[in-house]
Amino acid sequence: MMQPKFSDNVILTGFMGTGKTTVGRLLAETLEFELIDTDVYIEETSGKTIPEIFASDGEEVFRQLERDTAHDLSQSQKKVISTGGRFMLDPENVALLQPSGRIFCLTASPEEILRRVLGDADGIERPLLKGADPRAKIIALLEERQSKYEQFPQVDTEGQAPEEIRDQILKQLNST
Ligand code: S3P
Repeated sequence: MMQPKFSDNVILTGFMGTGKTTVGRLLAETLEFELIDTDVYIEETSGKTIPEIFASDGEEVFRQLERDTAHDLSQSQKKVISTGGRFMLDPENVALLQPSGRIFCLTASPEEILRRVLGDADGIERPLLKGADPRAKIIALLEERQSKYEQFPQVDTEGQAPEEIRDQILKQLNST
C-alpha cells in the first residue's frame, strides 16, 4: 500500500476495546510515525497506574491529566495518537488536537467490546468496567457517549482483523 506523504498526526478515538492501541501500533509501523498511547503516556508522566489514579486521586484528576496530555501533544507531528476512550469527548482536548491531524473513531458492538476487553489480559486495567456486570456498564456508557463519538469519521471494526482496519484508515488518509 502506498505511503501517504504527510506529517499530520493520526488520532484514534472510540470506546474501550474497539482496537485503538492495536490498530494504532500497526498504523505507526506502516507510516513510520511514533505511537503515543495516552493511557501509557499518563502512567509514565504521573508515575502511577491508571487504576491507582482512579482509586487514590479520583476520575476528575485523571481527566485533568488527559487535558495536560492534549496540551503536550498539540504541537507534535508524525504521531499516531491512540487516545483513552473518553479523551476526545472532552471539547478542550478536541480543540487542542484536531488542528494537528486527522481523527478516526473506531466502533464495535457491545458484545465485541466485551469479548475484547475480557480477552485483553495484558492491557491496562479499566476502572470504569470493574464490578459484577461489565456488559451492563458497557451498554450504559456507550449510550451516554454515542452521540459524541458520532462527531468523528466512523470506522467499523466489527469482525475485522486489525490489518484490515489499518488499511481502511490508510485508504481514507490517501484519498482525502
Ligand atoms: C476510559 C478508557 C480507558 C482509560 C480509562 C478511562 C474511558 O482507555 O483511559 O480507563 O473513560 O473510556 P481505553 O479506551 O484505551 O481502554
